[in-house]
Amino acid sequence: MARARVRYACQECGYSAPKWLGRCPECGAWNSFIEEAPVEREACPGAPPAVPRPVTDIAPMALERMPTGSGELDRVLGGGIVPASLVLVGGDPGIGKSTLLLTLAAHLARERGPVLYVSGEESAQQIRLRAERLGALVERLLLFTETDLALVEEAARAVSPCLLVIDSIQTMSVSSCSSPPGSVAQVRECTAALLKLAKGEGITTFIVGHVTKEGALAGPRLLEHMVDAVLYFEGEGKNAYRVLRAVKNRFGSTNEIGVFSMEEGGLREVPNPSRLFLNERAEPVPGAMVVASLEGTRPLLVEVQALVSPAGSGLPRRVAQGVDLSRLLTVLAVLEKRAGLPLAGCDVYVNVAGGVRLVDPAADLGLAIAVASSYAGRAPHAASAACGEIGLTGEVLSCAHPQERLKETFSLGFRQILIPGRQARTLPNIPGLGILGVETVGDALRQVLG
Ligand code: TYD
Ligand code: MG
Repeated sequence: MARARVRYACQECGYSAPKWLGRCPECGAWNSFIEEAPVEREACPGAPPAVPRPVTDIAPMALERMPTGSGELDRVLGGGIVPASLVLVGGDPGIGKSTLLLTLAAHLARERGPVLYVSGEESAQQIRLRAERLGALVERLLLFTETDLALVEEAARAVSPCLLVIDSIQTMSVSSCSSPPGSVAQVRECTAALLKLAKGEGITTFIVGHVTKEGALAGPRLLEHMVDAVLYFEGEGKNAYRVLRAVKNRFGSTNEIGVFSMEEGGLREVPNPSRLFLNERAEPVPGAMVVASLEGTRPLLVEVQALVSPAGSGLPRRVAQGVDLSRLLTVLAVLEKRAGLPLAGCDVYVNVAGGVRLVDPAADLGLAIAVASSYAGRAPHAASAACGEIGLTGEVLSCAHPQERLKETFSLGFRQILIPGRQARTLPNIPGLGILGVETVGDALRQVLG
């Protein structure tokens, strides 16, 4: 039966523990733990009583998805919105979360039925202004500026919308919880209530969540466990391109990305993004290498740039934009140890053109080449791109879906690509595309840098 359990949470970072702690093991804050409101453990409402049943007796779920009106958003969701799902959209302030969701809300209001857009962030006038810019003035789009979740639930039950948008979860509160809005306990309680609403009443819900400066949603990982899908909006403020990435999806694949550009009239879809992220350059230059990466199921060609310069006194600097710093450090260590590049005395700066973030491990090889090319002051051979993960031994390891990468590389006008040796031997040829197989990182550097 349902049993309440008491837990304690750090008010600084949201770390949750079964007992009170003097110092938070996650963020190091002192005396930051407070008792959380007890969480009722209960079965999903509306679900049949749980008894063990043969898997073959369970009726298949008919996943009738709602198209969002945006091919890119559909792709990230795995082919549209699954009814009664609970989806979290996270990202930095100002990245475009409200713009995306208001556009979606207007589309569904036009095509399907009433949509309830709840905002605790902006006034109704501000939202109307945005709706004018976006061409989202639709009668069935209902705005509700409210932060009391009980009233939101009441309105949702009354309207029975085909989509409920909560902008943002950090502004909502339930009276049963004494912590302030945005605190871990409130965020958890509100999300639990929305989950109940989504599953119990079948109300499809999108929740906006702000990201803290450390990059974690308030109440780290907490929301991610409760929702069906988590989409993160990424991009640099000054750059118009925005990448929407699925980091969790119970109804589709993760790491799927959608690409948008932020323009005067809202977010425009970018169905063929590779071209955007490549610099149109007649001649290759030292320190720049094209990576044939795969983000989700989509091949994406991007340029990785590196600058290697002699370090001043003190520790050498390592700066990574668009790639994981720990990934860069590993690649530098492998270059030092396995390819004999003396990088310990150098500052290394890495940037991915266009503000894209690469999570594909197969970006390693291009990253290594960019660094070595800058170090040597020699440009990689013309028209080459690379893909392959680098192991600690210096071996170039196979990458996922090489065929997709080759096709995209060729279609963007490249005539040569470096790929892991094992895959080079087994893949069918693409006429016009030279495939260079490489076994180790040293081997790759000899081939492209001479
Ligand atoms: P917004 O959706 O409010 O961001 P978030 O909800 O994630 O905080 O978008 C903020 C930025 O987008 C803002 O700086 C203005 C810009 N913008 C446009 O360039 N064009 C538009 O049509 C709209 C609505 C916003
Ligand atoms: Mg907003």
